[in-house]
Amino acid sequence: MKIFLDTANLESIKKFNDMGLLDGITTNPSLMSKEGGNPKNAMEEITKIIQGDVSLEVVSTEYSGMMDEGKRLREYGDNVVVKVPMTSDGLKACKSFSSQGIPVNVTLIFSANQALLAAKSGAKYVSPFIGRLDDIGQDGMNLIKEIKEIFSNYDFKTQILVASVRHPLHVIDSAKIGADVVTLPPGVLDKMLQHPLTKIGLDNFLADWEKLKQKNPDTKI
Ligand code: G3P
Repeated sequence: MKIFLDTANLESIKKFNDMGLLDGITTNPSLMSKEGGNPKNAMEEITKIIQGDVSLEVVSTEYSGMMDEGKRLREYGDNVVVKVPMTSDGLKACKSFSSQGIPVNVTLIFSANQALLAAKSGAKYVSPFIGRLDDIGQDGMNLIKEIKEIFSNYDFKTQILVASVRHPLHVIDSAKIGADVVTLPPGVLDKMLQHPLTKIGLDNFLADWEKLKQKNPDTKI
């Protein structure tokens, strides 16, 4: 399963990329807005740092505007995936971009039918938002199971990009189901790194080493 980071924060992107953990990045207008800086700079930097796919989202709601914006977004790099909303115009743009060999991520997917239609339109990725379904009392992970089954039945090449991930259990469940990608807020990836027993174990190793050094002051590794 590929791991994308769901952020426009350059510090987090560099941090996790230096650990070799990132296969790509997803952004959206809210994430860009959260950073507060000039989105142009962010898009330039992100597409330089990351070799893998970087989803940059259009803000037009009609087809011709999406096409113009998508073409401009692609100027940031060959690794740019044009992100369009799950609307009629979004699917029309998805079809046009895909026919030209430009990869598309269809976002704001909340049902298996929407995922099926986005796949038919040629999307490289569909982004089901599982956390937002959980928020309204629906089972987000069940949507991932349904989409996985449907895509497998018909051998669709479209990849399932699990989005709106809120905690590490979402990641384990996505991997068990066989989702292609999870896109993670930096905080979730941080939590995945940690375990209390790792910290306790390391503290004990270091304390024992200090004791040994008291008896052997010249010892070093
Ligand atoms: O990738 C989509 C994601 O950013 C949405 O997450 O937490 O705003 O539902 P959230």
